[in-house]
Amino acid sequence: MKTTISIIKADVGSLVGHHVVPEQLVELGEKSLREAQDKGLINSYHVFNAGDDLELLMVHQKGEKNKGIHRLAWNTFQKAAAKAKQLKLYGAGQDLLKTAFSGNVRGMGPGVAEMEIEERGSDPFIVFAADKTAAGAFNYPMVRIFADPFTTAGLVIDPSMLGGFKFEVLDTKNNMKVVLRCPEEMYELIGLLGTTTRYNVSRIWRSKDNLLCTVTSTTKLSLIAGKYVGKDDPVAIVRAQHGLPAIGEILVPFLHTYFVEGWMRGSHWGPLMPVSLKNSKCTVFDGPPRIVALGFQVCNGKIAADESAIPMIKDMFDDPAFDLARQEAVEMASMFRRMGEFQPARVGEEAMEYTTLPRILEKLKGRFEPA
Ligand code: 13P
Ligand code: 13P
Ligand code: MG
Ligand code: MG
Repeated sequence: MKTTISIIKADVGSLVGHHVVPEQLVELGEKSLREAQDKGLINSYHVFNAGDDLELLMVHQKGEKNKGIHRLAWNTFQKAAAKAKQLKLYGAGQDLLKTAFSGNVRGMGPGVAEMEIEERGSDPFIVFAADKTAAGAFNYPMVRIFADPFTTAGLVIDPSMLGGFKFEVLDTKNNMKVVLRCPEEMYELIGLLGTTTRYNVSRIWRSKDNLLCTVTSTTKLSLIAGKYVGKDDPVAIVRAQHGLPAIGEILVPFLHTYFVEGWMRGSHWGPLMPVSLKNSKCTVFDGPPRIVALGFQVCNGKIAADESAIPMIKDMFDDPAFDLARQEAVEMASMFRRMGEFQPARVGEEAMEYTTLPRILEKLKGRFEPA
């Protein structure tokens, strides 16, 4: 019996600008998934928000890219977007870029990460969800977790990890992918993934037995829409323990902040701030970009739950151990904001091509003369 963990997310409209998904929309998502659970399509679910993005975590036995599961997510987003439109919420239906559902939400706007697994004796997971940033935000922590022995002690002291991990890297510019092996090709891997705006880590396997242990969403909304419509706000599923990085090793890269692209109008570098679900809402300059981490275990095709049937979910960044990163993020945010629209506070020229800036500069076109 195989189990699939799917997280599908979209910005369907938010309250007070791009701040937060209102509770009413989260409840609407819950109702929709509860009905799907009652019908037996999914076995368990958890609906939450990463800032202004509605996140549908579903555990089921239908496999990855299943039409029924994708249709459920798409219909749930449509219902939530309709409610958002009715309430004139901000950016209602923002990420629902295509109209006709063709069996898979990939390429239609919503972000997707799915992992089909054969359950182990005990199977701990962390789902990460970020707001006001892009898929490249996962490059740095994934290299730290799966390739850096200064982060993951298991790479050195757990014999089952000695063979290292394989990374699938997506070239979002040319829509190509390549698999690189660590530690053998670590320098090439970092060579690519260091270009966070173009290359994204999409999947990670344990090399010795091809055990799938990480998947991320790699949607680039600007490439689908051909213009800036909001940031991609990625999600990732990471499998832990027993021959894989421990939960604590997966969380340690977030002890400090690091810079990601996104923030105001998706056009600025900003420090990523690990926050509890209660603080999963952007404010200053529509940020700083935030990330939440949900911990849970999979048990017999479901998110582990007792007789109450309420999934047991833990809010991993709800911990003073991440206060340092949060404080650093505020300090870095204030430093970058002093720079206004000057690089490197603002993203590079190539990323700005998708924004409204070229339309403004168009005005000056006729006034340039040979220098
Ligand atoms: P496992 O090898 O069971 O994952 O335990 C590692 C550990 O003790 C983490 O601190
Ligand atoms: P979202 O992608 O989170 O909707 O943010 C859009 C934006 O431009 C914020 O300034
Ligand atoms: Mg938004
Ligand atoms: Mg968002």
